[in-house]
Amino acid sequence: MRRLGALGGLGALGLRGRIVGALVLTAAVTLAVAALGLLPPLERRLRDAELRALVDKAVELRGGFESLDGHQLAINSNALGGLGLELVRTSGASEVYLLDSAHALRLRTADRATAAADPFDDVAEARRGRRLVASSVTHEGDEVVRVAIPLRIDGGLYVLAARKQVSEIRDAVGVVRRAFGTAALSGLAIALLLGLGLAATLVRRLRRLRDATVNLAEHGPVDEVPADRNRDEVGDLARSFAAMQRRLHQQEEARRAFVATASHELRTPVASLRGMLELLDDELAHGEVDGEEARRQVARALAQARRLGRLAADLLDLSRIDAEVALRREPVELGELSRAVLAEFELGAGPGERRPAPVLDEDGRGEDGVWALADPGAVAQILRILLDNAMRASPDDTPVHVSLRPPPGDGPAALIVRDEGPGVPPQEREAVFRRFSRGTGASGGGFGLGLAIGRELAERMGGSLVLEEAGPPGATFTLRLPVPPPHDHDGDDDGGAASA
Ligand SMILES: Nc1ncnc2c1ncn2[C@@H]1O[C@H](COP(=O)(O)OP(=O)(O)OP(=O)(O)O)[C@@H](O)[C@H]1O
Ligand SMILES: [Mg+2]
Repeated sequence: MRRLGALGGLGALGLRGRIVGALVLTAAVTLAVAALGLLPPLERRLRDAELRALVDKAVELRGGFESLDGHQLAINSNALGGLGLELVRTSGASEVYLLDSAHALRLRTADRATAAADPFDDVAEARRGRRLVASSVTHEGDEVVRVAIPLRIDGGLYVLAARKQVSEIRDAVGVVRRAFGTAALSGLAIALLLGLGLAATLVRRLRRLRDATVNLAEHGPVDEVPADRNRDEVGDLARSFAAMQRRLHQQEEARRAFVATASHELRTPVASLRGMLELLDDELAHGEVDGEEARRQVARALAQARRLGRLAADLLDLSRIDAEVALRREPVELGELSRAVLAEFELGAGPGERRPAPVLDEDGRGEDGVWALADPGAVAQILRILLDNAMRASPDDTPVHVSLRPPPGDGPAALIVRDEGPGVPPQEREAVFRRFSRGTGASGGGFGLGLAIGRELAERMGGSLVLEEAGPPGATFTLRLPVPPPHDHDGDDDGGAASA
């Protein structure tokens, strides 16, 4: 118990740790992947959008620049300055330049210091390649997007260059990054709290189940399993466990009742047998034996011994049924089998017995006989039980009928035993099938086990044993058995008919 407890404690800790760990790890990985997948592309997209807007505006004003004439191209002329400021205004550019073919500045909207620091490498590239160059660079710690467009003005090759500081993009992304960090921390905290709560509940419920299992192992199915109403797998497990506990409890009760009844049934004949033998022994010791009386006592003792033998056999049958010892499942011709069992009763009737042996009604059977898929030994035993009951319950001068019904369609085959005795009172119809249950009209001697064994054997073979409700006076018991597939007994057919 202590070992189990220690193991359980470790396991509970492990489960809690694993659940919390898994939740926190999932939250952390999700947030990290989201941050990595979101922030850099966001920054890139914002920068690209700025660059595209700058290029668009510069291209829009290209025509204006190209239509200038020689006078208007003088350094910082009004016309040049106007176009430059227009570009600054529409695109938000921080600097606009126009450089001539000698790489000299014709227009500069920024102050000298900034212009001097600009490497103008994109301008050189645009001039060389005669094509628009758009790029983004980090220039003295500032994020800058820039464009250089080659222009043909008044026969000369000029380059229009515009720069825009976009450091605020980094600030904006920084804000998003900080928000992400906060979200990540709260997400992790929630995952941790949820994980702890979930794990605690789960572990508590599992511990309750474990305690119930240990209790079951140590004390048997005595206590009720605590109810768990949650509609989840652990709840299902708890309910299945409770159902199993209840079943075990019922079986245990049934077993106790059975053992109590069986030992009572055994004690009575054993006591009476011992009494008779002691009396006989006493008489023998005192030499006052009356031969006639002694024979009667021996006969009574023998009857008790036979009764004990029958009880032992019945109890053995029941224990085999309870242990679910496998029954055979093979095609059986019920006519042949019934004749063999009836023959036992004919022999048993003997010269001293007045009563006629039971008869098998031969009509109503097909040419091939009536086949069932069953254990021949078990079917014979059920028939013996039914015949024994019928012969004991009905008057000696009335016949006992055995008849067979081939299956209607693909229904079960039926073996019917009918007598003309008093029948079973309606209120006892089901009770007579219970173990150790004798009917009120029973002529002594039985243990009330026959029909219980018969019904359980029938059900084990996939069939049934019932007492028919209406019909002629007397009792009619019907044993129904599954039939074999049509081709199954073809080969046995001749053999069955020949040996019949
Ligand atoms: N053919 C019948 N007619 C009237 N009553 C019957 C008939 N068969 C069974 N019963 C009633 O059903 C009861 C139970 O039958 P069952 O065969 O189980 O036990 P039993 O015959 O009393 O004892 P056992 O078979 O163990 O020796 C009988 O005691 C009897 O009252
Ligand atoms: Mg009986």
